[in-house]
Amino acid sequence: MTTSQSQPQTAETRTARQPSTEQLRDRVARELERARARTTALTDAVDDHDLTRQHSRLMSPLVWDLAHIGNQEELWLVRDVGGREPVRTDVDELYDAFKHARSVRPELPLLAPGEARGYVSEVRNKVFDVLERTPLEGRRLVDNAFAFGMIVQHEQQHDETMLATHQLRTGDPVLHAPAPPAAPAGMLPAEVLVPGGPFVMGTSTEAWALDNERPGHTAHTEPFFLDTTPVTNAEYAAFVEAGGYDEERWWSGAGWAHRVSASLVAPRFWQRDGSGWARTAFGRTEPLHPAQPVVHVCFYEAEAYARWAGKRLPTEAEWEKAARFDPATGLSRRYPWGEEEPAEQHANLGQRHLSPAPVGAYPAGASALGVHQLVGDVWEWTSTDLHPYPGFEAFPYREYSEVFFGPAHKVLRGGSFGTDPSAVRATFRNWDLPVRRQIFAGFRCARDAKPGELS
Ligand code: AVJ
Ligand code: FE
Repeated sequence: MTTSQSQPQTAETRTARQPSTEQLRDRVARELERARARTTALTDAVDDHDLTRQHSRLMSPLVWDLAHIGNQEELWLVRDVGGREPVRTDVDELYDAFKHARSVRPELPLLAPGEARGYVSEVRNKVFDVLERTPLEGRRLVDNAFAFGMIVQHEQQHDETMLATHQLRTGDPVLHAPAPPAAPAGMLPAEVLVPGGPFVMGTSTEAWALDNERPGHTAHTEPFFLDTTPVTNAEYAAFVEAGGYDEERWWSGAGWAHRVSASLVAPRFWQRDGSGWARTAFGRTEPLHPAQPVVHVCFYEAEAYARWAGKRLPTEAEWEKAARFDPATGLSRRYPWGEEEPAEQHANLGQRHLSPAPVGAYPAGASALGVHQLVGDVWEWTSTDLHPYPGFEAFPYREYSEVFFGPAHKVLRGGSFGTDPSAVRATFRNWDLPVRRQIFAGFRCARDAKPGELS
């Protein structure tokens, strides 16, 4: 290959060795148990009234999420993978997310809290038996324990949804966690230059990657600058104080229409506190932490802030390139920091804390290009609609991703403080309607690099 004409060698990094079947079974069992411990903690934290009531029309009652977790596990692992007798078939319809809107779920004849707990544990007992007896190869659904990994992630995704329901719940605090780490002293550069050119987006090698992350393919980006950290509460408050919510010019047409009709004046859960702001999180009202990433803003608010700041939101491909691309090798990493599974020093994940951490708090989690806190803290809105990658194949069911493709949903990247490490990667794609604010979403800004800025 000649140096002058060669294309950069873009590829995904490769994980060194395959685990043995026994190691894989142990890992699955640990992950299933970790997910269930979290589900149990989130549902045992409140009484039966709080489990069955509606905390918001946007959310299911917690007891619905609980039994739905068990029902998905029964459908995929007990019946499909295991080929076993169902635990029960009479509740499939109740816990099919496509049959009943979240707003009407409290009125359904749901399993009572005690019955739901019994159901999920009966399913789980069968699943442990299935796990022991199923060869983890020979069929795409079970290769590398994919179906088990999918169900672990499904439970963790619903745990994050239940955490968002807890955030909407009124009453005394029931969840407790230590404060997030402080940021070490020292200034980070405001922006990082992400070079133009190809990189591998998505993955064909990550065993538990979900269908919409596949396949790995070459994507191209123009050179651009990305903020080193997410937009903070202090930065966002400056936009609010500058009258950003009163000035149509910062908002897109759809964004302004929504700003007006929903009477948005500040992020969700913010309240005036003298001359400043307070925010309520999980039942506690405290002064806004200036250095934490802003959270509970919708896509339209993110877009308006970016325009006010003279910037824009990154595209999904730009976000992923900043997170994965290693300019020294041309390879795309699994995580911003490299190949290692997320550990405590890398990212604010897994509900270890009940808020995002101040910007700069995770230097060990920075990407090769020097971008911080891409994974963890807050989901980050991108400017991109949820679309399939070239070569996409729905697997194992169309209702996970395919039915959501199209212009209605915006892609969010990176996971939040409430996302479990097993349920996020630098390739992981989340999505939601552009008006949604109950999720743990913030954003960071990008801007085009001008020719004179390409150092
Ligand atoms: C991928 C997070 C948008 O929670 O709606 C849970 C995940 N899919 N059950 C959601 C999901 C089916 C999904 N998100
Ligand atoms: Fe679900």
